[in-house]
Amino acid sequence: MAAPDNRTILNVQNLSVYFGQTDKPAVDNVSLTLGAERLGIVGESGSGKSTLGRAIMRLLPPIGRIQADALTFEGASLLDKKERHLRALRGNQMALIMQDPRYSLNPVLPIGKQVAEAAILHLSASKREAYTLAAEMLAKVRINDIERTMALYPHQISGGMGQRVMIAMMLLAKPRMVIADEPTSALDVSVRGDVLKLLDELVRENQAGLMLISHDIRMVAAFCERIIVMYKGRIVETLSHLDEAQHPYTRGLIAAMPDPRSPVARLKTLDRLAIDSAEVKP
Ligand SMILES: Nc1ncnc2c1ncn2[C@@H]1O[C@H](COP(=O)(O)OP(=O)(O)OP(=O)(O)O)[C@@H](O)[C@H]1O
Ligand SMILES: [Mg+2]
Repeated sequence: MAAPDNRTILNVQNLSVYFGQTDKPAVDNVSLTLGAERLGIVGESGSGKSTLGRAIMRLLPPIGRIQADALTFEGASLLDKKERHLRALRGNQMALIMQDPRYSLNPVLPIGKQVAEAAILHLSASKREAYTLAAEMLAKVRINDIERTMALYPHQISGGMGQRVMIAMMLLAKPRMVIADEPTSALDVSVRGDVLKLLDELVRENQAGLMLISHDIRMVAAFCERIIVMYKGRIVETLSHLDEAQHPYTRGLIAAMPDPRSPVARLKTLDRLAIDSAEVKP
């Protein structure tokens, strides 16, 4: 096995994101680093997880304003990069699997052609080889009826299929950093484990860093070495194991998720008063 690579791939210092004219940030002073590891980002709906991922990729909509002391990828700042450079990086070295990936696929190109283009670009494959490789990759991400799917356009496939198509393209591009935003929530339980396994292979083989965004704290804890817990745009704590959870919000998230080992008749809901009065310890 290759020696572990402890280099920092991504460094984020005091990142905040504001939408429109409001002075309440959607992401509030977040700092984190990512090496060749699996890092989970958890938090309830609206806690700023997707906004954080998109801000890192510099993929916020025009009304999103970003403020940061540092945002570096492989040692170079992403804050002052031109869109042209960012686009080249996104296609090659850093990748985002969006919660609804249909928008990140090219709407006017059939699926097969898009995946084949990734093979031509990254593996210098011939057109013919590229289609064979594309079909192989789509099979790897458990797309059924490959020939039919390859002829479909992005708006004709489901969100879960779109995410798997994105993963297939990434398997060809071998990026250094992958941000996966809820990559399994739209999938059947039977396929979820496979998709996680593929992401795991992808990062291990390439010594890449994976940021796995999810509201499912138990799934993230089972898969990631570190877990960052977000609440109202802020990091409330960072854990390597669920047993370490101190913050009432994190404990609430854990109690609100069913534990297959000890089923309970009724799941707990969050105690917001206790959470808001608790001290924040990043
Ligand atoms: N394009 C936008 N315009 C205005 N506000 C936005 C936009 N995108 C996100 N927000 C706001 O930012 C906050 C964080 O949203 P975000 O989508 O990052 O949450 P999330 O943790 O990913 O939630 P979920 O688990 O539902 O995906 C929310 O209050 C949301 O309303
Ligand atoms: Mg989200």
